[in-house]
Amino acid sequence: MTEQKTFLVFGATGQTGRHFTALALEQEHRVRVVARNPARVTTSHPNLEVHQGAVPGLANLDGLLEDVDFVVCMLGDARAQKREKVNTAFVRELVPAMRRTGVSRFLYQAGGLSKAPGRELPLFLRVIRSTVARSHIGQHQDNEAVMEYLTQEAGDIEWMVPRAGIGSDGPSRGILERSATAISIGTFRDVAAYNLRTVTDPSAVHTTDQSVYRKG
Ligand SMILES: NC(=O)c1ccc[n+]([C@@H]2O[C@H](COP(=O)([O-])OP(=O)(O)OC[C@H]3O[C@@H](n4cnc5c(N)ncnc54)[C@H](OP(=O)(O)O)[C@@H]3O)[C@@H](O)[C@H]2O)c1
Repeated sequence: MTEQKTFLVFGATGQTGRHFTALALEQEHRVRVVARNPARVTTSHPNLEVHQGAVPGLANLDGLLEDVDFVVCMLGDARAQKREKVNTAFVRELVPAMRRTGVSRFLYQAGGLSKAPGRELPLFLRVIRSTVARSHIGQHQDNEAVMEYLTQEAGDIEWMVPRAGIGSDGPSRGILERSATAISIGTFRDVAAYNLRTVTDPSAVHTTDQSVYRKG
C-alpha cells in the first residue's frame, strides 16, 4: 500500500469525481467529500466521510480542511456558471482557508477548452469551443478566472490545474501523462486516475497542462 493520505474532494458525485473517490478508496486513502446532495454519493466505505454542503459559502471550511493532505476540486455546474463564476468565488474562499489551516496542495480540474493564463488555444480547440461546446462557455470562463487567480494571487499554494480532455465514460484506454503541447480525449476514469497521480506529483505544481495517453 502507498502511504495513507487524506483527500478533501469537491465534485465527488460528478462524472470524474465518482471515479476519483473510488480509486482513492481502493488505494486505501481517506476521502472526505462535500456534496450538495449526499444521497448522490453511492459508495460507502469505512475511509469515506460525507458532508453536506454547496459552494461557495461553506460555513465550516476550516473544519473540513482539518488533517487534509490534498484538496481536489472536480466541480462543475454549467447552468450556474453561465450566470456567475461560482468556482472562482469558491476558490477565493478555499485558498485563504488552506493558508489558515496549513494545507498546501490543491488540484483543480479544468478542461482542454479553457485557456491557460497568457496563452491562446490552438485553432482547432477555439473552433470546438465556439461551436459544439459553446453551451459550456461560462464554465470555461470560470475555469480561466480560477487559473488567473491562482497564478496571480496564490503562488504560495502548491496548486495544479489539469486541463482535461474527456470524451466518454467508457473503460480505461491507458495511462494519461502531462503534456504542455498535446491533448488526448480520455475517459472519466483515466482522467480521475491521472488527477490522483498528479496531485501527489511535486513536478506538477504550478502547471496548467493538458494530458496525453502514454504511447506503447
Ligand atoms: N464533462 C466533460 O466532458 C469535461 C471535459 C473536460 C473538463 N471538464 C471539467 O471538469 C470539471 C468536472 O467535470 P465533470 O464532468 O466531472 O463534472 P460533473 O459531472 O458536471 O459534476 C460536477 C460535480 O460538481 C458538483 N457541484 C456543482 N456545483 C456545485 C456546488 N455549487 N456546490 C457543491 N457541489 C457542486 C456536482 O454535484 P451534484 O451531484 O450536486 O450536481 C458534481 O458532483 C468541470 O470544471 C469541467 O469544466 C469536464
